[in-house]
Amino acid sequence: MNDNKKSIISILRKSEGTPVSGQEIGEKLGITRAMVWKYIKALRKEGYDVRSSPKTGYILDSCPDKVDPEMLQNILKTSLIGNDVRYYSELESTNSTAREIAPSASEGTVVLAETQKNGRGRMGTEWQSVPGGLWLSLILKPSIPLENLSKVTLVAGIAVANTLRNMGVDAHIKWPNDVLVKGKKICGILTEVSAEIGKVDYVVLGIGINVNVKLPDLKDDIRRDSTSIANEIGKPIDRTSFLASLLYELEQQYIRFKTRQFAEIVDEWINLSDTIGRNVKVTTPIKLIEGKAVGITEKGALVVLDKNNKKHEIIAGNCRYSD
Ligand code: BTN
Repeated sequence: MNDNKKSIISILRKSEGTPVSGQEIGEKLGITRAMVWKYIKALRKEGYDVRSSPKTGYILDSCPDKVDPEMLQNILKTSLIGNDVRYYSELESTNSTAREIAPSASEGTVVLAETQKNGRGRMGTEWQSVPGGLWLSLILKPSIPLENLSKVTLVAGIAVANTLRNMGVDAHIKWPNDVLVKGKKICGILTEVSAEIGKVDYVVLGIGINVNVKLPDLKDDIRRDSTSIANEIGKPIDRTSFLASLLYELEQQYIRFKTRQFAEIVDEWINLSDTIGRNVKVTTPIKLIEGKAVGITEKGALVVLDKNNKKHEIIAGNCRYSD
């Protein structure tokens, strides 16, 4: 977007609904009123809802529901996560792009797309990525052994749940990393890793959040068990501000993961959990385990007690509730 258009948006945003005259905008930018009007018309074509009244001036009623990477940089309060944000209108999958660039990208790089043509979910499933969601992948380079990978996933779940709870949405985590509101899925996390001789090279944390997704846009079988932030709070939200809060929370949790005892994270995860205390069926690559979910180990594994009181520690799998 050209600088004059950006400045007009910024002036109208700052005025918070008070009309600003074409004369005043023109003087601020050193351009004529006719030029201001030309830019306003162009902005309307781009989806900005600018009201004009000949007597009072211009008012910005709404902006297009697009993430604004420049505004993100202005409001972001992180020092690592989001220093480099690669923004796309559409990608096959942000996780695939993140994996391609990860070897040369710096830690904290974020790949974000408005829509994905081939969004990927856990266990080889499709992830429907329609407009209005936040589809992003975060590149992390923690110096950890591969066996500690599931801890990073738990940390990401906490960050998403906290971001939602901070805005009044009652989010809980279903093991390993679905975020649910009133039992319906609002976010999924796909963790992918590159490792050599058991040591992590980089982790790609793929996070999909139904922020302003319109539920009727989802396929029937997905819609039944899904919700969105807009659906929960009754109106769409500003996705750029939400993203800034999410990246901040991810950074806080990541710092804690690197500097504190993991037990602290386990405690918080259990407090936010929707799974602990429930009867579950967990499918792992080798077997099906049925029993009661009773805890998380120091390594980030789910502990399930079966009907013979045998303890199973499960590092990865697909969990269904059976109660
Ligand atoms: C799940 O199955 O619950 C995980 C879904 C993860 C979806 C996100 S959207 C951004 C990133 N890119 C992808 O292709 N998948 C993840």
